[in-house]
Amino acid sequence: MTRKTVRIAMNGVTGRMGYRQHLVRSILALREQGGLDLGDGTVLWPEPILLGRREHALKEIAGRHGLTEVSTDIDAVLADPSVDIYFDSQVTSAREEALGKAIAAGKHVYTEKPTATGLDGALALARLAHARGVRHGVVQDKIFLPGLRKLKRLVDGGFFGRVLSVRGEFGYWVFEGDWQPAQRPSWNYRAEDGGGIVVDMFPHWEYVLHELFGRVTSVQALATTHIPQRWDEQGKPYDATADDAAYGVFELEGGAVAQINSSWTVRVHRDELVEFQVDGTEGSAVAGLRTCRVQHRGATPKPVWNPDVPATEAFRDQWQEVPDNTEFDNGFKAQWELFLKHVYAGAPYHWDLLAGARGVQLAELGLRSSAEGRRVEVPEVSL
Ligand SMILES: NC(=O)c1ccc[n+]([C@@H]2O[C@H](COP(=O)([O-])OP(=O)(O)OC[C@H]3O[C@@H](n4cnc5c(N)ncnc54)[C@H](O)[C@@H]3O)[C@@H](O)[C@H]2O)c1
Repeated sequence: MTRKTVRIAMNGVTGRMGYRQHLVRSILALREQGGLDLGDGTVLWPEPILLGRREHALKEIAGRHGLTEVSTDIDAVLADPSVDIYFDSQVTSAREEALGKAIAAGKHVYTEKPTATGLDGALALARLAHARGVRHGVVQDKIFLPGLRKLKRLVDGGFFGRVLSVRGEFGYWVFEGDWQPAQRPSWNYRAEDGGGIVVDMFPHWEYVLHELFGRVTSVQALATTHIPQRWDEQGKPYDATADDAAYGVFELEGGAVAQINSSWTVRVHRDELVEFQVDGTEGSAVAGLRTCRVQHRGATPKPVWNPDVPATEAFRDQWQEVPDNTEFDNGFKAQWELFLKHVYAGAPYHWDLLAGARGVQLAELGLRSSAEGRRVEVPEVSL
């Protein structure tokens, strides 16, 4: 076995996503398992360079995990020819410029979503990467979750017949920050800093719907700010200028209709923080992050509407759990592995900057639909 070291500049590892999901649960987890076996006698050994603005915070993380390389100088890191890959999980508003620099420097890039703050910028990045000939990938973690992988398996196996509709419910209560600290960063609630639930979640809904049921062809959304004032990390009140809830209807290629509520202002009365119900002519399913339950046509009860008597059936009990039938790794790690195999073994990979641009487009058009109070067509994007 030959061990090949891969130097990855990781920008934004002091943040929630960068630290937990990408550094600890993906890159360090890969090292713990001995590297990534490419299947051709090569094992990739990821060597992260922690990049950011605050040296002491980077050094603290490096020390905690036995890492040695940190830098606050993105230009110097990008100028280093031994660095192969640039990864970005910074705040959304800082991403486009940094990705542009990395691509121009000839680095392969892997990035959190949304890839840019507008479609023009997102497409420009995709075109630049294509022209420069670098490999590129965008995090699309939800489709690597066990619940959605089981749902995809049902779709691929023809379980649903013709899919009629998809109903998604995403959200939980995010504390305002006054009497209990908020569990999300305050920039999420400021439009001027790249915040907002449409910008955050519609990119996810784009690839979930597209990969499982068909491309989104139109969007009708109502985005709103239910809570106009919140308190930041320092306990200071601020105006919440970004949307904290969005109610969206999406038409899909193939004829199905999806309806997804996204909200940071709901209390959870569900089994998971996100759930999708899919109804098809042959059967239905309800999938969450981890679980997936089904009800086949042949096992569908025939309820009769009668408000004068208590419910006669325990409807939730009439669903059957879909077995795992395999081991599911962390979704972020699974996608990192595929990206690394794409870069170093030429494996196919379609979750790229063009796919990322589709997500940015859906967010942009969702906000336009909301502002103009009308349904908006979603044209197909291309390089
Ligand atoms: N894939 C997912 O499920 C998912 C979930 C949450 C967030 N995200 C995305 O990940 C990115 C990071 O989100 P997060 O929740 O980890 O945010 P966070 O606020 O916890 O982290 C942001 C990171 O960016 C750095 N940063 C760089 N420039 C900054 C600036 N000008 N102001 C503030 N911080 C700056 C911070 O130091 C920190 O490392 C966002 O683009 C977000 O859309 C993805």
